[in-house]
This record gives sequence, structure tokens and C-alpha cells, in this order.
Amino acid sequence: MDIRFQNLGPAQWKAAVMLAPVCEGESLPGQPELDVAAPWLAVAPALRDFKGKKDELALLHGHPDLAIPRVMAVGLGSREKVDASTLRKAVAAAVQRCHSLGLESILLPEPCLSRLPGGRERLVEECVYAARLALYSFTALKKPAEDEPPAPQWLAIGFDGEQVPDAAHAAARRGERTATAVARARDLANMPGNMLYPEIMAERAVELAREAGFTCTVLDTEDLAREGMHALLAVGQGSARPPRLIVLEYAPQGHEQEKPLILIGKGITFDSGGISIKPSSNMHQMKCDMSGAAAVLAAVTALAEEETPRRVIGLLACAENMPDGAAARPGDVVRAANGDTVEIVNTDAEGRLVLCDALVYAQKMWTPAAMIDVATLTGACMVALGTGLAGLFTDDDDLAERIVAAGGMGGEHYWRLPLWQEYADKLKSDIADICHAGPREGGAITAALFLKNFVRDGMRWAHLDIAGVDWNAKKTPLCPTGAAGFAARTLLELARGGVQ
Ligand code: BES
Ligand code: MN
Ligand code: ZN
Repeated sequence: MDIRFQNLGPAQWKAAVMLAPVCEGESLPGQPELDVAAPWLAVAPALRDFKGKKDELALLHGHPDLAIPRVMAVGLGSREKVDASTLRKAVAAAVQRCHSLGLESILLPEPCLSRLPGGRERLVEECVYAARLALYSFTALKKPAEDEPPAPQWLAIGFDGEQVPDAAHAAARRGERTATAVARARDLANMPGNMLYPEIMAERAVELAREAGFTCTVLDTEDLAREGMHALLAVGQGSARPPRLIVLEYAPQGHEQEKPLILIGKGITFDSGGISIKPSSNMHQMKCDMSGAAAVLAAVTALAEEETPRRVIGLLACAENMPDGAAARPGDVVRAANGDTVEIVNTDAEGRLVLCDALVYAQKMWTPAAMIDVATLTGACMVALGTGLAGLFTDDDDLAERIVAAGGMGGEHYWRLPLWQEYADKLKSDIADICHAGPREGGAITAALFLKNFVRDGMRWAHLDIAGVDWNAKKTPLCPTGAAGFAARTLLELARGGVQ
């Protein structure tokens, strides 16, 4: 769906349908631009029943030959409670209704947005973002349903006869770009394990790097061995698909010497649990165990495309965790890239093993301004926070605040959990420098503490545990069931904000 502008004023607006956002208890006719664009609204009988409640949608018909033959009234609920999130959901639901009705074009009047709290540009951005994601579906592997109408061709923001301000253009472009990033992360994560494995992830990254203008280098098993990354290698050794560490580097002109923001994603393309095999119910969802890496790749791609003036490195730590004669056994000890020996007590705790080597590599190769890792790391995090909140672990209050703010812009919410040092005892091993997993209780915290073992003191570092939020079990206006693309937007907003 294209995003356009119509700036000749309401008398000239033209589209198959005009969306009219209305707060509860407020009247639809009486908004001056809408009255001009669709004068028949004043006598539309169906409007008498429209209350403007949240989730309420009503389609009203004028004469079919008019420039605006239809209006979709979009309820927002009470004005005091309207925010970006309300608007996103309402616009997404409306766009989905337009799609199912087969309407080919949509107009959204800017004056309606300007009358809402939140600032015009922000709301334009969120509307474009929501409209785009409302039409997202994972289509790569499925014939189109015969009875499904084509998606709307364009969404126009209608201005009241003024020159469209540059800021509104920029806001719309940002919304589009963000939606593309989230959709990319979803596409990658939705792809099944037989079709997307470390080498394919590397191919995709190389392709995106070429298109968007950043560099991508891929470390294969030999390179990984040379770097001493035996923790990462151990995770991949039971699979027919070899592991890869994929390095993305985006250094815009004039920022080549800047300390980079380093984003590290867990990229387990399928997590069977390995020899500590998982129960089979819902195991198929473990194709999404590379959601962290998908978010990082999508974010870096978007930053390069829009030429954000910030140096960013992305590391995708990719492996497939499978049981096999060559697989790592529970009880094995491997040497991680920092020289520490690690006792693997449960091969299903594989995420932290690929991440620890990536964390060491990041600090060896660069001087990071900050490091943020993103991982579908622990079932324990999902038990603690449910499926609506991601876990955030960091000792750095400023970084925590920035992450919460960046996530909040797009409805990705983080809840801070403790890096409670006393629990580090639970990672003591009798035979190695560190044991890689603690007991079930507090499992998200001990996992984070394991990672912290590989982070130098004083380093700005945060760990995002997105297990539980990466998979959308129930369709919403902004996301079908399957991969949510969680954290792609957080990382993107964070880098846009220029985190130092
Ligand atoms: N990928 C899983 C975590 C996960 C669980 C993500 C559910 C999304 C939904 C991870 O590799 C894992 O298996 N973690 C174990 C760790 C345990 C063995 C210490 C877990 O959480 O059970
Ligand atoms: Mn696992
Ligand atoms: Zn996993």
C-alpha cells in the first residue's frame, strides 16, 4: 500500500473511503473538513447509532458517484484516554475492514489527527505504521485465498489546502520504514527451520546489506574455531546445518570513528532442545527462536536505508540446536571465547551459549558505546511477565530508561528485572569456571547473570529477554498469529534517538 498526500483541501479529497476518527460522545458531522468532504454525513441515519466507543466501526454510504462515496467512522473511546496506541489499534482495525470490503483507496484527514492529543507528526507516523502493519501477513509459502480481495492500493493523508509540511512527509516515511522493519523481522521469524537456517540467514543478511548499504561479513565454523567460540560451536554441532556468526556494520559517513552501538541477536533457527529435548507440544514455535537476530537484522537494515547518523554494529549469533550423535551432551564442558570453561548442564539452555561468545567478540573487536542483546532466552521470563511484557536487565539506569522509552513509542513494553548478584552462586560449577544454567526458579535472572559474566565491568550493556512476546498467539489488528517482530522497532527507535 502506497502512502500519499492530498493537499487541495477537503472539497478535492478523493478516495473509495474516508476514515473519520471520532472520540466517544463527540459528533461526527460538525468537524468542518469532514462536512465539506462528505456533506451527506449530516443526514446519514446510521450515524445516530454511532457512539465513538473504542473498537467501534461504522461504514456510511453516500452517493456512489461522489469523490468520497463512503465514510468509515472510527471510534476512539474517551478523548482523555486517547493516545498513540489507541489510534494505532483503531486505524489498523479500520484498514483491515477496508481490505475485507475490497476498497481500493483510503483517505485519512489530517485535521482530525491535529485535533487529537499527541502531536500531528507523531500521529501521522503512527497511523501510517498501523495501516501498513494491519495488512501484514506471511504470504511467502501460501497460495493467495481465492476469495480474498486485493489490499487497498493507497492511503492518502488529506490536508486542508495547505502545503504538506516537510515534517509530515518525514513522519509518514518514518512510519513506513518502521513498519517495513517489523514486517521483515516477522518474515524472517515466521520462516520454518527447514527453509531458514544459519547459512540462509547469512545469505539474507548479505542481500539486505547490499540493498540497504551496510557491510556484512560471515564467520563460518573455521573462523569461529579460530576465534575460540566453542560455546557457539557446541550449540551447532548436533545439526546438519553449520552455525554462523553474522556481522553487520553500518558506519555512515562522518561517523566511522564513533564508538558503535552494538546490537546482538540470538539466532537459533530451530531449538529442539538438543539432547535435553523439548516436549513436542508447541515445539514448532521454536522456529521463532531467532527472533532476536531477526530484530537486529531488520533494525540495522532500516537504519542504513534511512541513513540514520549513528554507527551501529549488529551481531547475529546463529545456530540450529538439534540432537544427534555429534551433539553436545549434558555435562560437556566447553571453552568460551574469553577463555572461561563452561559446563553445559542442559543443552536446551543454548541461547546464552551463542550469546556469550558474541558478547566477547563485540568487546574484542570494537569499543562499544553500548551493547544490547535481544533473545528469546527463557521460558522463566514468560512465566514471570506473561506474553505482554519483555524482560529488561541492566545495571545502567540511563540505558534502561532509554530502552523503555524507545519501546513505548511503538507499544513494545519492557519490565525491568534484577541482575541480583547473590544468585550468581547458582552458576558455580564443581568442574568448570562457570555452569551455564541455574535452577528453574529465577531462571530468567540466572540466564542474564550468565551473560553478565562475559561483559566487562563498567560496560554499558542491557539484555532483553523477549521469550513470550516474540510469538503472537492471538490475532490482533496490528499482528496476525505467529512471529510478532518484537524489538525491531525498539532497537530502531533507540538508534534513531542517538543513544550514546
Ligand atoms: N528458546 C528457549 C526459551 C523459550 C521458551 C522461548 C518458550 C520462547 C518460548 C530457550 O532456549 C530454552 O529452552 N530455555 C530453557 C532454559 C532452561 C533449560 C535453563 C527454558 O526456559 O526452559
Ligand atoms: Mn532452548
Ligand atoms: Zn532457545
